[in-house]
Amino acid sequence: MSNEKRLAGEAAIRYVEDGGIVGVGTGSTVAFFIDALADLKDRIQGAVSSSEQSTAQLKRVGIPVLDLNATGPLSIYVDGADECDPYKRLIKGGGAALTREKIIAAASARFVCIIDSSKRVELLGKFPLPIEVIPMARSLVGREIVKRGGNPVWRDGVVTDNGNWVIDVHGWQIADPVALEKDLNQIPGIVTVGLFAQRAADVVLIGDREM
Ligand code: A5P
Repeated sequence: MSNEKRLAGEAAIRYVEDGGIVGVGTGSTVAFFIDALADLKDRIQGAVSSSEQSTAQLKRVGIPVLDLNATGPLSIYVDGADECDPYKRLIKGGGAALTREKIIAAASARFVCIIDSSKRVELLGKFPLPIEVIPMARSLVGREIVKRGGNPVWRDGVVTDNGNWVIDVHGWQIADPVALEKDLNQIPGIVTVGLFAQRAADVVLIGDREM
């Protein structure tokens, strides 16, 4: 699958505009994208990064990392996913970077999602749904998830770049991802739900093929 990840990361370069600022996600597929973006570094202003991990790689290859508050809206965001349904709705957050990823996706005109074919599903939910929570709300959020038929598992030991914790929800077959995302967003203590359904991807590249 890593060959497909590399092909997808390299294919996303064709959506990058000269002189632009690129939103950059997190993960092993994005790592291929950053390496390919390094070849264009003199033709872009820089990147807005979704994680400390991607920031470190961007700096290593010499791409300036900019503050989203200083850039205004972005034309493009490139990121991977853990699952992608036929409507380009996603589960993300396997790498615990979901909050900053969702912020940058919302600030970008076009979301280009790069995946390998193992991520393509008919129904979201086989991959446990990551939810970032304020630490003191972990048990409250867990009980709310159980009421909704999910099995919450605390990702013990993981602290997000924002100082929060992650719960992975097992056992949901997500027939209506938009409704579930809206519902979960109402629970106090939830910072970010790893469903990207209200703001789905615009383009999905599976390897170098557009879905
Ligand atoms: C990071 O929090 C995630 O949303 C990643 O985008 C997702 O886990 C995909 O990662 P890989 O590209 O490593 O499969």
